[in-house]
This record gives sequence, C-alpha cells and structure tokens, in this order.
Amino acid sequence: MSYHEAAAQKAREIAHSQKAMVLAMETSCDETAAAVVRDGRVVCANIIASQVETHIKYGGVVPEIAAREHVQAMQRVIRLALREAGMQYADMDAVAVTSGPGLIGALLVGLCAAKATAYALNLPLIGVHHIEGHIAANYIASPDLKPPYTCLVASGGHTLILDVQHYTCMRLMGGTRDDAAGEALDKAARVLGLPYPGGPHIERLARRGDAYAYTFSGAFNKARHLEMSFSGIKTALINKIQELKQAGTQLPEADLAASFQQAVIDALVQKTLWAAEQNAHDTIALCGGVAANTALRQAFAERAAAKGMRFVCPPLELCTDNAAMIGSAGAYRLFDGYTSGMDLNAAARWPLPGC
Ligand code: KG4
Ligand code: ZN
Repeated sequence: MSYHEAAAQKAREIAHSQKAMVLAMETSCDETAAAVVRDGRVVCANIIASQVETHIKYGGVVPEIAAREHVQAMQRVIRLALREAGMQYADMDAVAVTSGPGLIGALLVGLCAAKATAYALNLPLIGVHHIEGHIAANYIASPDLKPPYTCLVASGGHTLILDVQHYTCMRLMGGTRDDAAGEALDKAARVLGLPYPGGPHIERLARRGDAYAYTFSGAFNKARHLEMSFSGIKTALINKIQELKQAGTQLPEADLAASFQQAVIDALVQKTLWAAEQNAHDTIALCGGVAANTALRQAFAERAAAKGMRFVCPPLELCTDNAAMIGSAGAYRLFDGYTSGMDLNAAARWPLPGC
C-alpha cells in the first residue's frame, strides 16, 4: 500500500472512531515543542525547549537564529515527548504540526519533522492553525467544554474575539485594529526598561503599583462595537514617561505598569463580555500567551460570574506556546475528516479558517 493509501485509511478510521493518539509539533516562534495527546483532550506528554535566553540579548526574536535552534532541538524534543508519554512511534495514530501563522523559517523546521515522521510511519498528517491551537488548549484544561462559546485569543501577535461555533469553525467578531494585546505589553515593558518578553515583567511590576494612578484611555471605546486599539495607549504611556522625566520626577514605574496593564485588561474584558451577550453564550474562554496574566484572569472570572457566565482558561503552561494545544486542535480536525497532504506548506500569514 502506498503512503497516500495507508494514511487515508488511517484518517478514515480516526474520523469514524473519534479517537486518536496524536504526536504534535510546534515551532512557529521561539519554542521548540512536541507533545503526545490522546483523543484531543488528554496530555500524555508536553515538552517545550524555550529559546528565550538566546533571544533576550536582542530584545526580541531573531527569525534566522530561531530556525537554527529549532533544527538543533527538534528531534531531541520529540524523543523526550515519547519517553515522557511512555510510548513509541508505533503507538501514534497521526501527526499534527503548526503550519502557520508564524516565522516562516521556524515553521518549516516543524513541518519537515512532521512530514518525515508521518511518511515514515504511514500516518495521516494534519496542519494546524496556531490560533486554533491556542483555542484548543481549553479543551485540554476543561474536559467538558464544548462549542458554542465566546473566546478571546490574546497573544503576542493576535487579539481576536471569536464566536466558536464548532471545534473547527469559528467566526471572527472583533479584535484589535493595530497592536496585539501582548505586543502592546511587550512595547510598554521596553519603554519601562524591562526585558523581552515584557508581559510577565509588566505583570510582576504591576503587582506593586496602583492600577488607577494614571488613566490610559483609548484602548476601550465605549461604543458597543468589538474593536480595540492598543497603539494609542502605548503612545500615551511614552508621553507620560517623557512628561514625568521632564518634571524631574522619579519614575513611578510600578504605578505606570499597573495602570497600563489595567487599560489593556478593561478593553479585553468588556469587549469579550459584550460579544458573549450578543451571541447569547453562557461560556467565555480565554487563551493565548496574555491569558497567563493573573490580573486578566481574575478580572474575567469576576466579571463573568457577575453576569452568571462560566469562565474557562487554560493553566499557565498551556497559555503560552506549546505542542499539546496543537495535538488537541489537530485531533478535532481529523475527527471532522480533514487531513493535509505531503504538499502542506508553511504560511507566515494565514487568516483563521472560517466555517
Ligand atoms: O501565545 P504566545 O506564547 O506567543 C504568540 O503566539 O504570540 O504569546 C506571547 C505573548 C507575549 O507578548 C508575552 O509578553 C505575553 O504573551 N505574555 C504575558 C504573560 N505571559 C506571556 N502577558 C501578560 N502577562 C503574562 N503573565
Ligand atoms: Zn502563540
């Protein structure tokens, strides 16, 4: 039997049984990750080799260096994932991989590893949209979570409010018009002299500050549309810092961080709640790297509870980039009958697949 026939047969079995042990890979940015996920819900292994230490001296991710580091780490990370799961290649039913969006050179490393593995084992291959992966992290964290629900994706590159109608079908309702929420936090951190990636540093500093010391308005527009803007409040922060410096004041860094973070949180929470109300959904899900922010999680939990809505969010290790979420999203694609061919390519830009 040819690879094509064997993989197609296996894919049919998976779609029929709605069961699969998925080996997943993720290399879209600066984490080399591999995971083993059972039936889209249970993590058997989740290995992440972070490159943060390499990129920190450049103040951001250097794409070419990221790709080279992925090449060096990929096979070791896959072997570690299988070992942690106590499984072998022969126990796998399918291979899932992030095929976009992301850094093209970085994505291609995961893609080549996934194709080679699938081909050698006669297994179906499934290319996964990175954001669909972030969303699926909640299927792992909340085993009873089922669409429909309203989801906010807040990462370094995306801020999206989605009407999740089915596991593989989501409608874009709103989001940022300029910078992503994580990007805004990273830029704010940079102007406050904090290292990359700035989100966690802003959070740490903000804990000691007064969130209402300064008002950075603009991200949250009171009109009941679902669009946000974060680039204006970044400029407002830079202007405030200049003003304080010119006045010879010692910079109240913690208050500035806390107030900026609060402006981001207010916009994200209010707009997502409006979207859930519009959809008449009783569940709100949060995901993406920024979902690791404790103040954001708390604000969502409180505001959703006040509206009688359920709020779900993945644990911290499933908020930032990982391969377990790709294994879950990949499984749901396979359950719906999707597969990718050996001609699967990486896409630096890729709109979220619609319904
Ligand atoms: O999802 P992710 O790991 O990578 C992308 O797909 O972009 O998100 C990374 C983003 C960065 O902007 C980072 O600063 C932010 O998530 N982030 C946080 C926290 N942890 C990571 N932002 C705020 N608070 C955190 N604790
Ligand atoms: Zn991500």
